[in-house]
Amino acid sequence: MLEVLRSGQLSLGPRGPQFERAFAARLGARFGSAVSSGTTGLHLALRAVGVSDGAEVITTPFSFVASANVAVYERARPVFVDIDPITLNFDVEAVAAAVTPRTAALLPVHVFGYPVDMARLEQIGVPIVEDACEALGGSYADGGPIGGRGHPAVFAFYANKQMTTGEGGMVLTGDAAIKERMDSERNQGRSPNMDWLDHDRLGFNYRLSDLACALGLAQLERLDTLLAGRERVAALYRVTLGELEGVTLPCENSGQVRRGWFVYVIQLPHGVDRDSVVTALGTHGVAAKPYFPAIHLMSYYRKEFGYRDGQFPVCEDVAARSIAIPFFPQMTEAQVARVGEALRAVLAAARRAAGPLASRA
Ligand SMILES: Cc1ncc(COP(=O)(O)O)c(C=O)c1O
Repeated sequence: MLEVLRSGQLSLGPRGPQFERAFAARLGARFGSAVSSGTTGLHLALRAVGVSDGAEVITTPFSFVASANVAVYERARPVFVDIDPITLNFDVEAVAAAVTPRTAALLPVHVFGYPVDMARLEQIGVPIVEDACEALGGSYADGGPIGGRGHPAVFAFYANKQMTTGEGGMVLTGDAAIKERMDSERNQGRSPNMDWLDHDRLGFNYRLSDLACALGLAQLERLDTLLAGRERVAALYRVTLGELEGVTLPCENSGQVRRGWFVYVIQLPHGVDRDSVVTALGTHGVAAKPYFPAIHLMSYYRKEFGYRDGQFPVCEDVAARSIAIPFFPQMTEAQVARVGEALRAVLAAARRAAGPLASRA
């Protein structure tokens, strides 16, 4: 980063392409386009696969709101389908059933880093943009790294992510034309060999600075250590929380599928008041937050698209009971144990408060 500062070229310099090549190589993709955030990467990728006014984009209501918003940016309709209760990713059979002549793209989100069944999704035959913002380090059922399948796959580098550039993102793709379009649109619609005063298409300023790219290159060198730290903490949690009655932990890897660990989200037992649990954990010095709220029930989505309660029952049930608990690579065994003790005490009190009707299932 110091070298970038001394060079005087803080953006549009050599670090951008270097970071793109290194990140793409790490995940076995042909091309990378560095962008200012995961959200802007998703927006460019949707445009590049042909999403525009009046189209439908099939996606999940159980995600961070950005994955649905990006369709709305193009005046397309986000069409939600319910989720699988185990993986928490959208139900691929429900996706197949929701396809219409207006469907321009499928936008799978690898929720909490767990890969969607991409082989099945690809059989549907509609362009795909993968939201891999939470999934760095994970792998698909065939063992290949998430992001290396050739569809635009979008990663995010906000400060809480597996690796960070402060803010930032990267779109991987196997398609040179998509790479060229995204590179142009992130830079105000300028074509690579065009005078800077001429712009042959509509564009944005979605660039990632050379400073940020230098940070990204340094983070990439440490990525194995960063990922191993999260794996270690997840394994500690599995042992510590495994005996908490009625609490659902993140599903385990199966076959060659590997979760790219980003957050640790648990589902509280039915009948327990989630918000009181979050508050009570706070009094024990444990920061927890509801994560994710269902997107279709957010007031903007209700108002704009008419979504309502009861449409996606699995998502609504999971969203009402999910909390993210402290999770970072340097977490110690003692810190994990403290979270476990606090949860045990708080859940016991919540069950007493809920009375005999509180389900233990
Ligand atoms: C699933 C998902 N999609 C998209 C984003 C957006 O990424 P950014 O905050 O970098 O715009 C995030 C960020 O948290 C996310 O978790």
